[in-house]
Amino acid sequence: MRLKDKICIVTGSGRGIGKAIAEAFVREGGQVIVADIDIATGRATADALGDRAEAVALDVTDPQSVTALADHVQAVHGRLDVLVNNAGINVFHEPLDTSDAEWARCMSVDLEGVWRMCRAHLPLMLRAGGSIVNIASSHSFTIIPGTFPYPVAKHGLLGLTRSLGIEYARHKVRVNAISPGYVETQLAVEYWESFDDPSAARQQTYDLHPPGRICTPGEVAMAAVFLASDEAPFINAENIVIDGGRSVLYHE
Ligand SMILES: NC(=O)c1ccc[n+]([C@@H]2O[C@H](COP(=O)([O-])OP(=O)(O)OC[C@H]3O[C@@H](n4cnc5c(N)ncnc54)[C@H](O)[C@@H]3O)[C@@H](O)[C@H]2O)c1
Repeated sequence: MRLKDKICIVTGSGRGIGKAIAEAFVREGGQVIVADIDIATGRATADALGDRAEAVALDVTDPQSVTALADHVQAVHGRLDVLVNNAGINVFHEPLDTSDAEWARCMSVDLEGVWRMCRAHLPLMLRAGGSIVNIASSHSFTIIPGTFPYPVAKHGLLGLTRSLGIEYARHKVRVNAISPGYVETQLAVEYWESFDDPSAARQQTYDLHPPGRICTPGEVAMAAVFLASDEAPFINAENIVIDGGRSVLYHE
């Protein structure tokens, strides 16, 4: 029960990595707010988790929606111990083919959405301390051609993580990131389906990773539990890479 009675928000937790994090947090005794733009999946996830989870509609691109969630947490719980900024979207283009609208769509969710959530919830967290966990990516420190501007946003997310970690360390708020490589979720399936031969694209992705497979959502969730818990009190402004060693592997 490493998160016993901690009040936790997990954005984008109706499905995928966020859902696995919400499940792990409840298993560890946390009280979890499943916050997702897709309220149907958010409700389904929360209902399956029982009394220790509630679903709230949230669009991280909408300042009013973010403020409404902060007001709700303040009114109902009076404190916030853990904020996991997991909601994210893939926006992949060639740089010169990227419209202003596509650039804005990517930044608004993957970078500004995280800042919006932090700005709205930090005042409550600063009262008693807490842990913010941002779900970044291997795109936060490497570039795969043709995936622009997603890596721009995810590189920025590490900068945001490090900045806030330093700014609020004296207030006992730790801010860390997790950078998964490929994770077996719907987002990855949609990426493979964008190729002529999705199963070949999937196998190619597996082969890129030294263990010959990709990460599961539950494996990201275990790191999120650790960073959110009191077992990581001196880990701050850090980034944990979960890619089976892919980013360390030498490529000819
Ligand atoms: N799947 C991967 O291979 C992988 C790898 C590295 C990093 N990531 C990152 O992990 C995070 C989760 O990815 P996933 O694979 O679980 O994706 P997913 O698409 O399966 O789930 C994302 C969730 O975020 C929600 N969401 C989208 N826009 C939102 C918004 N504006 N406001 C609130 N919620 C919103 C969606 O409804 C969905 O439930 C993302 O930040 C992604 O960039 C994923």
